[in-house]
Amino acid sequence: MQTLTQTLTKQAVPDSLSQLILRLADCSKDISQAVRHGALAGVLGATEQENVQGETQKKLDVITNDMLKDALKAEGNVRGLASEEEDYVVEVNKQGEFLVCFDPLDGSSNIDINSLVGTIFSILPAQDGELTEASFLQNGRQQLTAGYVLYGPSTMMALTTGQGTQLYTLNPDTNEFLLTDEAVNISKDTAEFAINMSNQRFWEAPMQTYISELLLGNIGPREKSFNMRWIAAMVGDVHRVLCRGGIFMYPTDNKNPEKPYKLRLMYEANPMALLVEQAGGKASTGYGDILDIAPEEIHQRVAVILGSANEVDACLSYHGLDYSNEPDIA
Ligand code: F6P
Ligand code: MN
Repeated sequence: MQTLTQTLTKQAVPDSLSQLILRLADCSKDISQAVRHGALAGVLGATEQENVQGETQKKLDVITNDMLKDALKAEGNVRGLASEEEDYVVEVNKQGEFLVCFDPLDGSSNIDINSLVGTIFSILPAQDGELTEASFLQNGRQQLTAGYVLYGPSTMMALTTGQGTQLYTLNPDTNEFLLTDEAVNISKDTAEFAINMSNQRFWEAPMQTYISELLLGNIGPREKSFNMRWIAAMVGDVHRVLCRGGIFMYPTDNKNPEKPYKLRLMYEANPMALLVEQAGGKASTGYGDILDIAPEEIHQRVAVILGSANEVDACLSYHGLDYSNEPDIA
């Protein structure tokens, strides 16, 4: 089996970018260890702090954020970083070529129940001149690399450098990531959906109709029965979509009119959208491709509908958009 280093070489990824990816991969191995020690290391539970988004930070949110920051500071080629757990963007190295956005521990509410969590990251090109929040506000198609590491029964990494999506599995004996799927291919059709159904009454009308018709199964207009899954960690739900297809949604809702969306664009939706598109799937807000959004703020949130191409199209058709005649992207 090929190692991560061998695959990046085969893909002719430039050395500086390869080194950064390998640095992130190494850091994720350390995070995997920290996560695995759980209660034994006293890392479970919450801190008394809140992040900029008003969410209570878990101890492991803070620990993993510091681990990634330290790793990126040690890497000479990072111009700046932005994290879910940092209020402002952080300057790293004036000579750096890359910007890194990350969610250090996605799904961290799963930590205390020993369930799936992961790290999501996105690498963008750095711009000349002073580093400000605006330097990061590039659309998702500018991403040079996107990936996540899932800390599950095995530690796995999904990665794209724009040449398809690959899956790697961490060999616990050698502590090396090995290529276990060289070209992820999300099935076009699916009979599995993922959405937090408790928000149903808060969704917009098109989503209400789409889900209610889907729930009617083989006696409804879709003439097909669906199964439902919800891991409550985007990284886990997207991983399932990459492995066996499906549609994952966190749509617009009016539960809190000041916060109509939940997931963050720069370090959740954009990297996942690129991984999904590179694997032959689709990623939309309901009204346009996630990767085409012109970002306005580093912590901005968006609606997310992603996964199996034909099912995303089916959902979009309820929103008045019919993309089914577009050519396949991957
Ligand atoms: O990071 C936000 C997040 O934890 C995602 O990982 C996950 O998909 C979602 O929120 C879970 O939301 P809810 O708490 O509504 O189930
Ligand atoms: Mn998250």
